[in-house]
Amino acid sequence: MAKRMKEENTKKRSIFNVLNLQSGDMVIDFGTKNTVILVKDKGVVMHEESCAAIDTVSGEVVCAGSEAYEMAGKTGENISVEFPVKNGTIADTELASALLKYFVKKYVGTGFVAKPRVIMTVPSSVNEVERIAAEAAAKSAGADIVDLIEYPLAAALGTEKTISSGKGIMFLSVGAGITECAVICAGDVVSSSFSKSGGENIDKEIVRFLRRKYGINIGSKTAEKIKKEIGSVYPDESLLGAFVEARGRSVAEGLPKAITLHADEIRPICIECVKNIVDVIKETVEKTNAELVSDIMDTGIVLTGGGSLIKGLDKYIESETGLNVYFAEDTYFSAVKGAGKAMDIVFEKRDLRKA
Ligand SMILES: Nc1ncnc2c1ncn2[C@@H]1O[C@H](COP(=O)(O)OP(=O)(O)OP(=O)(O)O)[C@@H](O)[C@H]1O
Ligand SMILES: [Mg+2]
Repeated sequence: MAKRMKEENTKKRSIFNVLNLQSGDMVIDFGTKNTVILVKDKGVVMHEESCAAIDTVSGEVVCAGSEAYEMAGKTGENISVEFPVKNGTIADTELASALLKYFVKKYVGTGFVAKPRVIMTVPSSVNEVERIAAEAAAKSAGADIVDLIEYPLAAALGTEKTISSGKGIMFLSVGAGITECAVICAGDVVSSSFSKSGGENIDKEIVRFLRRKYGINIGSKTAEKIKKEIGSVYPDESLLGAFVEARGRSVAEGLPKAITLHADEIRPICIECVKNIVDVIKETVEKTNAELVSDIMDTGIVLTGGGSLIKGLDKYIESETGLNVYFAEDTYFSAVKGAGKAMDIVFEKRDLRKA
């Protein structure tokens, strides 16, 4: 008897789980470079580049995400690889809708018991037009209700340290196209600042540096690879004597050319690009009341976003600001996970308002 009850309970639980999965409620972080989708009760189901390969004649999306990114910089006239998000906000509404529709269909599915409810992470600096564009893109991907959550707040909710501390804490998110800094206390953004620059700027400066110094043209993907392998903003033992071979096209002869590039050589280029991060931190501190600044002197700064992974950024910020700097446990996913935690509360509030 007990065994049968156990079996029935298990069955009930599994049916319940299936129904839950079918709800398709999700969090979308539609970034300048990458998109992350988290589905309720499933976790992160996709993390790929926010781009689509478009057929230039028919205007149709040929493929998207990493498959399309693989083609970037290598396509002929008939295909163009495009990113609809620039500096953290939607710049091409039509493509944004088509891309999200594609991602949701591929990774989340269709035919849910109810239309999915969606939370989108957006920069704190988002304006009304950008909000409307984010909501419209999610709706065209099949969302019923769309809620927006500010990225630093979502990242804070996804980080254990913040929730347990109860004190003011600073969050710094460095993405590909936007850097945001916010002081968060008691679940609210108290002060914030941003700069429309991020990891992509370092790639651009590496391209410029190689053209100027070595007369070689490299693509942005090669520049990003160089940055990830030997880029740094603070002397790093692991990079002592490190070098890479950079391949491209000679500016003068138009022929293939390869050069050896050392970590020490590009450090000043990378440092120049992250100086504005310290300015964003200073601006945020200036907007923050003295009591909270005192909290931050204890709690420090938490880093999130892929751009924060440039080697030595924590030490660079510590040396420039005198504050302690930590990485969020999950640099890439803390924001979607935090928004996922907020999901039940947000949707419950909506349901209460409806009732
Ligand atoms: N190991 C690494 N070292 C240096 N930079 C890195 C590393 N890994 C990722 N990045 C950079 O992080 C950026 C992507 O981060 P992320 O996915 O958080 O940005 P995004 O959400 O697409 O952009 P945004 O938040 O600005 O809209 C890219 O510029 C990428 O080159
Ligand atoms: Mg981002």
